[in-house]
Amino acid sequence: MCGESKVYTTHQTENSALSELQSIILNEKNNVPLFQRYRALFSLKGLGTEEAVDIIIKSIKAEKDSELFKHELAYCLGQLQNKKAIPVLIDLIKDPNEFVMVRHEAAESIGAISESETIEILKDYLNDPCKELADTCLLAIEKIKYDHSEESKKVDQGVNIYGSIDPTPATTETKDISELKNILCDQKRDLWSRYRAMFALRDINNDEAVEALSEALESDKTSALFRHEIGFVFGEMQHPKSAHVLKRVLGNATEAPMVRHEAAEALGSIASDEVFSVLKEYLNDRNDVIRESCEVALDMYEYENSNEFQYAIIPDTTSV
Ligand SMILES: [Fe+2]
Ligand SMILES: [Fe+2]
Repeated sequence: MCGESKVYTTHQTENSALSELQSIILNEKNNVPLFQRYRALFSLKGLGTEEAVDIIIKSIKAEKDSELFKHELAYCLGQLQNKKAIPVLIDLIKDPNEFVMVRHEAAESIGAISESETIEILKDYLNDPCKELADTCLLAIEKIKYDHSEESKKVDQGVNIYGSIDPTPATTETKDISELKNILCDQKRDLWSRYRAMFALRDINNDEAVEALSEALESDKTSALFRHEIGFVFGEMQHPKSAHVLKRVLGNATEAPMVRHEAAEALGSIASDEVFSVLKEYLNDRNDVIRESCEVALDMYEYENSNEFQYAIIPDTTSV
């Protein structure tokens, strides 16, 4: 899938690659397919420099059309944990006309950056009519408090093997799968505990853990946010046994788009033979978020089935 590579010296690499990445991510020429904008974004996330963060901020301010792409920009700003993203993320949370997934992801990213001063702002949205936003703010407040607590200093969880900054830590209280499943599937329990059980099961990542997460994904009636996070962790786990549940979720037109979106992208990263035709099928879905997710997921599928070294490297753009 890689085309011709351009060869730069180190300094040129930085400047030329950055301006090419900026042109792609901002779709300056108006002809860049979404999957390439995704790859440019993840290239910038991989660089993680001040300049890369500036370009992502510029892009999120300019993005008007794609809820999917804008939420991914917000996600990456949180993962990079650069404080200068805080003002733009707060503006997105505050805007009632902003896309739901974007407001959610902005709040989650404020949690990822984890500055105590932002707690007061998040508190204003705990009763927001947008339930996904309210739930995210609740988790983000808990996470920020946890990150600054004595308890978190005692438990050094380090970076998880997936390299993501999670909306809650994995629980360390038990590694027993049936106990974790009970917590995860208990719809009366608070989201914080259920998320912590979810991340512990993700880290176990065996057949039983996949079964527990699958059951929670299909039985939960309380929170689209909770279900979308299970879809997200399935994407990280890349366990082929989750594919059949994810296919059902993607095909369920009554499920929230944010959940179906995570199911599509998880299928793209599992990338087994069976997922290709399903992703193709929803490439024409009526919902923009689903259609675009399938476009990106098919590119992820191609990447997983290629010899490419890194997803983020863009054909014809990057270099060594
Ligand atoms: Fe999310
Ligand atoms: Fe997402």
